[in-house]
Amino acid sequence: MKIDVLLGLQWGDEGKGKIVDVLTPDYDIIARFQGGPNAGHTIIFDGKKFILHTIPSGIFSSTSQNVVGNGVILDPFIMQKELNNLDTNNIPARDRLFISRKAHLITPSHRLLDAAYEKAKGKEKIGSTLKGIGPAYTDKVARLGLRIGDIHETGFREKFDKIRDMHMRIIESFGFNPGDFELDDMSFSDYESAWFEALGIFDDLHMVNSEYFINNALAEGKKVLAEGAQGSMLDIDFGTYPFVTSSNTICAGVCAGLGVSPQKIGEVFGVFKAYCTRVGSGPFPSELLDENGDLIRETGREFGSTTGRPRRCGWLDLVALNYAIMLNGVTKLFMMKTDVLSPFTELDVCTSYSIGGELTREIPFDLCSEKIEPVYTTLPGWNRNIDSLENNKQIPDTLNDYISYIEKNTGIPIKIVSIGPDRTQTLFRK
Ligand code: GDP
Ligand code: IMO
Ligand code: MG
Repeated sequence: MKIDVLLGLQWGDEGKGKIVDVLTPDYDIIARFQGGPNAGHTIIFDGKKFILHTIPSGIFSSTSQNVVGNGVILDPFIMQKELNNLDTNNIPARDRLFISRKAHLITPSHRLLDAAYEKAKGKEKIGSTLKGIGPAYTDKVARLGLRIGDIHETGFREKFDKIRDMHMRIIESFGFNPGDFELDDMSFSDYESAWFEALGIFDDLHMVNSEYFINNALAEGKKVLAEGAQGSMLDIDFGTYPFVTSSNTICAGVCAGLGVSPQKIGEVFGVFKAYCTRVGSGPFPSELLDENGDLIRETGREFGSTTGRPRRCGWLDLVALNYAIMLNGVTKLFMMKTDVLSPFTELDVCTSYSIGGELTREIPFDLCSEKIEPVYTTLPGWNRNIDSLENNKQIPDTLNDYISYIEKNTGIPIKIVSIGPDRTQTLFRK
């Protein structure tokens, strides 16, 4: 069998969690391959809402196994909170979870360092979720990181102290000290104590060599879905650098983050919103700083799942979407939050960028320093409530025209149209 991949094509928060949960009954294994608790994946069913940060979105199905792959970085304190919440709701997550021994740990001083770097940047800050993502991946690449499998090895505490001291020296070199920052409303030393206590969660979880776990499952004919975090425009190599996250969010990240070969990649499901959002700083060519942007934010409840920050909103950007489709080899598109555009009588779609009077359909080298004017095509809106449509036949013609326009301009079929946050508000197209 091949491994299917589901990932975000924009700046994150496309609705990946919802769709992974919808597709989970078709899969034996759901596996996260990159990112960490900077992710916030929302799943809503039976009147209940869950936001997952580290745990894959297949956790609600009794028939699926959920893998946290080697490419993920994990904060045990945050994961413990997620597990406790699932316990409270009688979801037996511990039985369904399998953690790679090679996944790296985010330590409390990684989080301090994240906060110090952001504070030192002042106005230039990335708008990080402050979960320690950048510093933890930095230490992984610098070959200083601590992996889950190291926890019970001799010398773990010495290694931990060594990198902690190194981080403290960097923090002091910025003129800060640990007392300047709070971590989840706790002092650094309280957080550190809670973090060490949370390491106990690994005693109750299945630890695996996930590269064998996944490849053996594929060899046995099991169906595996890789669940992306963030989005392609936040990719460390191809996103709007430096306003990006610190991992490869694109399809190539699946090979390195789970240990599967490129020949094993099957379908690539690209998830996008019918418009665009971005949370944090950085370029966003089709951003709307007017009442239309406010209307999208209010209708779509566009506030961050991880940080609660208001998301910046704008029209659909086909230049960025086609770039992401190219980078990922997308085979099927899933359009999310379509219902959010219902109040509009007209919809703009960005089809090219004008840079210094020249038109282009390519993302320039540096989106940050170029002065980009988005060029729009205006399409009619459907301008009616669609959140309780039951099948494709009920889709208004104007919405079908919007779908066809995107399909024509990307060359990829839209197979799912999401019309609300609940599991059931999902239309499948042939
Ligand atoms: P993810 O990070 O890609 O999983 O997305 P988030 O969960 O951060 O953000 C998506 C938000 O939109 C969540 O609040 C979802 O409950 C919600 N959502 C998902 N699909 C739809 C949809 O089709 N319509 C509406 N109105 N909300 C949706
Ligand atoms: P999901 O998986 C949206 C953004 C942050 C910031 C930048 C770097 O829910 O789609 P980091 O904490 O990684 O150092 O932040 O990336 N960011 C996200 N934006 N959705 C996410 O994840 C994000 N994860 C990180 O806002 O701009
Ligand atoms: Mg999110």
